[in-house]
Amino acid sequence: MDTRRSFIKKSAVLIPAISVANSVFSKEIMQEKMIPVVISTWNHGLPANEAAWQILEKGGWSLDAVEAGVRVPEADPEVITVGYGGIPDANGKVTLDACIMDEKGRAGSVTFLESIKHPISVARLVMEITPHVMLSGDGALKFALQNGFKKDNLLTPKMNAEWKKWKKEKKAFSSKINIENQHEDNHDTIGMLAIDSAGRISGACTTSGMGFKLHGRVGDSPIIGAGLFVDGEVGGAVATGSGELVMKTLGSFLVVELMRNGKSPSEACEEAVRRIAHKIPDYQNHQVGFIALKKNGEYGSSCIQPGFNFALKTNAETKLVDVEAWMKTL
Ligand code: GLY
Repeated sequence: MDTRRSFIKKSAVLIPAISVANSVFSKEIMQEKMIPVVISTWNHGLPANEAAWQILEKGGWSLDAVEAGVRVPEADPEVITVGYGGIPDANGKVTLDACIMDEKGRAGSVTFLESIKHPISVARLVMEITPHVMLSGDGALKFALQNGFKKDNLLTPKMNAEWKKWKKEKKAFSSKINIENQHEDNHDTIGMLAIDSAGRISGACTTSGMGFKLHGRVGDSPIIGAGLFVDGEVGGAVATGSGELVMKTLGSFLVVELMRNGKSPSEACEEAVRRIAHKIPDYQNHQVGFIALKKNGEYGSSCIQPGFNFALKTNAETKLVDVEAWMKTL
């Protein structure tokens, strides 16, 4: 269905070669090179980062940047795991989950939302104009419509055909996702983290979730602390892959707490993957990837299986980074 991983090559995550020296001079160099910065999951992160960068390079707020960034795959019917054109659930409905968080720890989220092309913008509005963090299902849809969002049919003819094929074959539900060479490309959430030139960090996460999931299933992506967590004093993390594993271990919160306690972004992500492996017996049948960004601009990642990558953009570089799989290091 999707050829996005056809060009993946295995290699280690490239952490910028910046020493953690204490001199003022080295700190200035680091700031200059590393901020602003945006990272996001998978290769659909490349065009998403470009949209975010248009805001970051003008000195704009990272919250505006991450919202604008993830709206790109939300609107792209070729991205079959996010927003419009996403793989439907077992009832043939495209149901969307999203959340957003800023440097002050403000958060908004929508779950099980139908018929709205940009759930991330609804999540931001939940954060900004309600006293709540999360709205779900019909309530989230009504809130969106009352606030000017329009209904769209999110099920493309291509995905309708895939759903009919899936129903006819009576294929058992598969949770084997995003594992290289297994052609189970049913699950590629976009998570994005950005730091603006004022040093403010924000994050966003949006997905259509697991392909052919049970109607009503909600994954980790809209759950603050699971799919996304941001602490303006430390940094942020987002997750992609089998949401159930991330929810059971509160992965993104864990990554941020590990960074708070001194781990590098890559070490923190690796520890969160290790935690999943330790706690969840069939973890080998799943993919989970984390990306993390420290408030100084240092970034890192880890994943269970080969095949995960993330997109990076700074003043110095624009690239896709292939992540070394934790299972390969065993
Ligand atoms: N990680 C996205 C989901 O499980 O729905």
